[in-house]
Amino acid sequence: MDLASAYRSRRVAIVGAGNVGSTLAQRIAEKNLADVVLLDVVEGRPQGLALDLLEASGLVGHHRQIIGTNDYADTADSDIVVITAGLPRKPGMSRDDLLQVNGKIVLEVARQAIAYSPQARFVVVTNPLDVMVYLVWKATGLPSQQVMGMAGVLDSARFQTFISLELKVPPQDVSAMVLGGHGDLMVPLPQYSTVCGIPIPELLDQATVERLCDRTRHGGAEIVGLLQRGGAYSAPSAAIYKMVEAILLNQSRILPASAYLEGQYGLQDLYLGVPCRVGWPGVEEILELRLTDAEHDLLQRSGDFVKVRTEQVLQQLM
Ligand code: LAC
Repeated sequence: MDLASAYRSRRVAIVGAGNVGSTLAQRIAEKNLADVVLLDVVEGRPQGLALDLLEASGLVGHHRQIIGTNDYADTADSDIVVITAGLPRKPGMSRDDLLQVNGKIVLEVARQAIAYSPQARFVVVTNPLDVMVYLVWKATGLPSQQVMGMAGVLDSARFQTFISLELKVPPQDVSAMVLGGHGDLMVPLPQYSTVCGIPIPELLDQATVERLCDRTRHGGAEIVGLLQRGGAYSAPSAAIYKMVEAILLNQSRILPASAYLEGQYGLQDLYLGVPCRVGWPGVEEILELRLTDAEHDLLQRSGDFVKVRTEQVLQQLM
């Protein structure tokens, strides 16, 4: 590596300049984490958002380059490509209703982006999440550890919030864990969700725990229903930020992420939310937690659902 590239700024390409993509760009710039290239097919939108973010730089005190573009050539040599492009859900729709249309979009995005950043790590956010990550992995041809999906950090953050509200403790004292696909079959894990180390089943009765798990499973839809147009973006972008930071700073953090399974949890050849060690290599390791029989069955059901949808879309689109 020559000196110039060794000392060049880290660069994150964000494909899709909707609310999630643009809020992520703002978080990355304001925390001075990396330069940002914001790309969208809509002409003017990424350019306008980038200029607006740049005009705030003197006020908020960051010195990051922010480029808005419609041209993949401008994303060249990105360290991380975040894919948020795709249609959002409308009220009443499930994430899986978007399978075909978003499948086509992420395949196209992945093929274009990898051509300019062949070494990048890919973080996929487009729904239905776990299936879309698989498509991106296939389309890029990258080692599976360099391609992952963001969902578990968000779902766990929602669970953390609901626990904190219920127990009236600060969210920082709560550590929550949600596994499985990013959909109605996700698997919140109460016994691995703690308040300062105390598992929540010791602090809340079973009916309350079940109610909080259920609210977590439908956390995305709750916001879609309230907003009526578009979905959540503040918590999603904060969750992506956490993953991007873990990769760029090589933090080796333990985060739930959608990762490629090759036998872990008895599941084979699919992407699904599991606890991972995340650092510069991408997914460095998948942790296998001891689960109750009931949790294990729920994870299998979630995995089976994702796998069927993955095979279906692979047949149709690849
Ligand atoms: C949500 C979207 C990001 O859960 O799937 O809000």
